[in-house]
Parts: sequence; structure tokens; C-alpha cells
Amino acid sequence: MNPPLIHIYEDALALAAAAALEASELLSRAPAERPLLVCLSGGSTPRPFHRVLATTYLDVIPWERIHIFWGDERYVPPDHPESNVRMAEETLLRDVPIPADQVHRISWSEGRSLEEAAALYDEELRRVAGGRGDVTFDLTVLGLGDDGHTASLFPGTPVLSETERWAAPGQAPPTAAVRERITLTYPALNASRHVFFLVAGPGKREPLRAILDDPTSAGNRFPAAAVSAAEQLHWFVDASAYGG
Ligand code: 6PG
Repeated sequence: MNPPLIHIYEDALALAAAAALEASELLSRAPAERPLLVCLSGGSTPRPFHRVLATTYLDVIPWERIHIFWGDERYVPPDHPESNVRMAEETLLRDVPIPADQVHRISWSEGRSLEEAAALYDEELRRVAGGRGDVTFDLTVLGLGDDGHTASLFPGTPVLSETERWAAPGQAPPTAAVRERITLTYPALNASRHVFFLVAGPGKREPLRAILDDPTSAGNRFPAAAVSAAEQLHWFVDASAYGG
């Protein structure tokens, strides 16, 4: 794997514009014969990134070939204010022509357990990504929490040790609005061809600098440090997160 590429921008909007340009180039130049699997992040940082994709690159990206997945979801109905699916629908998916059967939501259902929902998502991802060798996604977008989590891989949680399943139950800390999570695991994330971390804000500085300066030792404290990419890992960060 190539060393990570670090891109520093003055603010979150410049970061979003640069990441969207890179994503559009990556997706547009992919070989035309295969579907493109894109894994979206939750949280707030991806919002402006999604808007640039849906406007500036609406006529550039081969949307009809794209399959959408999520790196994690809060285990709530898809119309819930905390849902990552809802955020992506509102900021990207309702404005781009991706065929409905190519949007693979993590399926909350009344009475369905976290384990059942995770198993269903694991099965759906394997069905769509099967036959791609040891690659899952063409592009995975991730964020970074102030505690160094990514997706719903939170510090000190059992899912960090998952080596087989691609999707599994996760749990956010007591401070989170929604603790029950479904998350992709390191085996799924690290099999992505390209990974884009989008990181903005001074609250991310400690984990970001620890990960960039010494990812090996940072891995014990900050789960995002253990994310890699089959081809290229990119950090799109703003100056307030990167620091002096
Ligand atoms: C989630 C995200 C999570 C997010 C980070 C950063 O479900 O919350 O998947 O991993 O990327 O918490 O969130 P912000 O972009 O809002 O800072």
C-alpha cells in the first residue's frame, strides 16, 4: 500500500471541494465494465462534500454504475434525524440518478435485532461485492471523531477485534445520541481500493496528529489509525484540525 496522502485546506468547504474533485476523477476514470461500489460516511463533515458531488459533478460521475453503501448507521428508522441514511438522502441521493436498487441501506426494522440487521447487511455487501477478488469498495469515505473513532469503530469496543464479518453490531459511548450501531469492520473497510478521510475542526486535532505522526502507536487509542486502503489512503483535512 502506498503511504497516505495528506491534503490540507483552509476550511471545511475547501476540503469538501477538493475531495469531491478527487472522487469525481477517481469514479469517472474507473474501467467501464464493472459496477462502482461507494461507501458513504455519516456525521456532518460529508454534507458539503455530498453537495459538491450532486451539483458540480452531477454530469461527470457515472451515477448509473454506482452502488451505495454506508460505513455505519445509527440503529434507528431511516427517517430518524440521527440516521446517516437520511443525511445522505437529503444531501446527495435525492439529487443524483443512482438506480434505487443500487442504494443499499442498513435495514432497521421494528423488532429486528442489531445482530440480525448486521448479518443482513453483511450478506448484502457480500452479494454485491462478491467476485471482486479481495476488494470491497472502489471508494470509502470516512470521518474522524474527537475520540479517534471512525464509522462506528469506537475505542475499547469488541468490534475492533472482528476479523471475519464485514458488518457487525457496534456501540457508541453513553454521550452519543444513539448508542446502538451497525458498523463495517476493518476487514471490509481496509479492502477498499481508495479511502478518503474527511476531517475538519480543532476538536479532531489530537487524534489526527497522533495518527498522522505515528499511526502504529496511535492505533491503541484511536481506531481510525488502523484503517488502510488496498491502493491509496487520502486525508483531506482543514487547517484547524491539522494545526500549526
Ligand atoms: C457517524 C459517523 C462517524 C463520524 C465521526 C465524525 O455515524 O457519526 O460515521 O464515524 O464520521 O463521528 O463526525 P463529524 O463529521 O460530524 O465530525
